[in-house]
Amino acid sequence: METLLRIENVSMRFGGLQALKNVSFTVKNNEVIGLIGPNGAGKTTLLNCVTGFYKPVEGKVFYKGKEITGLKPHKICQMGLTKTFQLIRAFKSLSVLDNVLIGALLKSSRKNEAVKFAKEVIKTVGLEGKENVLAGNLTPADQRSLELARAIATKPEILLLDEIAAGLTPAEVAELVEILKEINKKGLTLVIVEHVMQAIMPIAGRIIVLHEGRKIAEGPPQQIRENEKVIEAYFGEE
Ligand SMILES: Nc1ncnc2c1ncn2[C@@H]1O[C@H](COP(=O)(O)OP(=O)(O)OP(=O)(O)O)[C@@H](O)[C@H]1O
Ligand SMILES: [Mg+2]
Repeated sequence: METLLRIENVSMRFGGLQALKNVSFTVKNNEVIGLIGPNGAGKTTLLNCVTGFYKPVEGKVFYKGKEITGLKPHKICQMGLTKTFQLIRAFKSLSVLDNVLIGALLKSSRKNEAVKFAKEVIKTVGLEGKENVLAGNLTPADQRSLELARAIATKPEILLLDEIAAGLTPAEVAELVEILKEINKKGLTLVIVEHVMQAIMPIAGRIIVLHEGRKIAEGPPQQIRENEKVIEAYFGEE
């Protein structure tokens, strides 16, 4: 399998705080990677370093063999690497369709084509029939789906998801997992940051664990569940 993303010794500091320390891993085409770790482990910071929102103080990021470290987010997004935001970023006073259309127009300059594609994406995430609802009037679960739709609409090859299952009911999480499986089957590579284990264990082929800015484990879900360092990182939390 082709390597899509290569993260090499990435470090990030905020003032005196070392948020990431020498993190390395690769993501192959069509994989589903779970990225987990206790609060403050550096997960969001890592996604920001990969997608150009932060420039790492050390290390490099390669996408399809090309170095992308320090490129602007919209440039990286145009290349096919997109992320969702942990805090919802949809435009509350715009309709569901218009929100998704903004993403779709990044890759398609023809309005009709973009509208058609946006509607397809809206259906994929289960928001069919809500095209004209204002984003601000959606339920929290539907707002999560919209965030996912906005990202998919940019036609990424690899999508980084930051805790999109947070606050969802178990039934909603199960539905989300099915949607993610479906989009992965269509060829989209996924990196899923999540605290909700139910949202990650059934789909991730490989899990990477961060703790205090360092990668402490990497392996298949079953192996990660039994990993002593991982158990300690989580239970040592409180
Ligand atoms: N912009 C910033 N300025 C200063 N410190 C930051 C900034 N962003 C993150 N940090 C700090 O860096 C560390 C890693 O934060 P990060 O948000 O990446 O963790 P996380 O693993 O995503 O946590 P959570 O599970 O709570 O979302 C934390 O100590 C956090 O306080
Ligand atoms: Mg985070």
